[in-house]
Amino acid sequence: MSAMDFVYNLLVALHLLGMAAVVGGWIAVRSGRTVIAPIVWGARAQLVTGLALVGIAEAINDADHTVNHAKIAVKLVVAIVVLAAAEMGAARGRKGKDTGNLLDIAGGAAVVNVLVAAIW
Ligand code: HEM
Repeated sequence: MSAMDFVYNLLVALHLLGMAAVVGGWIAVRSGRTVIAPIVWGARAQLVTGLALVGIAEAINDADHTVNHAKIAVKLVVAIVVLAAAEMGAARGRKGKDTGNLLDIAGGAAVVNVLVAAIW
C-alpha cells in the first residue's frame, strides 16, 4: 500500500468515526432535543474528511479511486444541512433556548447521507 493509500484509508476510517459520532450521538440522545458536542464535532469532521477524500481521490484518479460528482454534490449539500442544524441546535442549547427539531434534522440528514453513500 502506498503512503497516499494509507492516508486515504485513514481518512475513510475518520469519516466512518465522524458518522458514528453524529448518528450514534443522535441515537444516544433518543427522544431528547439536546444537540450534544459529539454530534457537532462529528458533523464538522464529515465535511473536512469528506472533502479531503474527494481531493485525494481526484489526485490519485485510478480504478480504485473514482469520484461520482453528482453523488458527492448531493452528499455535500446534505452534510451542510447536518452541520448547520447541529451548530444552530448547539448554540440554542448553550443559550438555554428551545432547539425545536434541530437534533432530529441533523441526525436524520446524517442517516440520509449514509444511505446515499451506501446505495447510490
Ligand atoms: C453527515 C455527512 C456524511 C456522512 C454520514 C457520510 C457517510 C459516509 C459513509 C458511511 C461512507 C462509507 C461508504 C462506503 O464505504 O462505501 C462514506 C464514504 C465517502 N464519503 Fe461520506 N459522508 C458524509 C459526508 C461526506 C461529504 C461532505 C463528502 C465530500 C464532499 C463525502 C465524501 C465521501 C467519499 C469520497 C467517500 C468514499 C470513501 C471510499 O473511498 O470508500 N462524504 N461517507
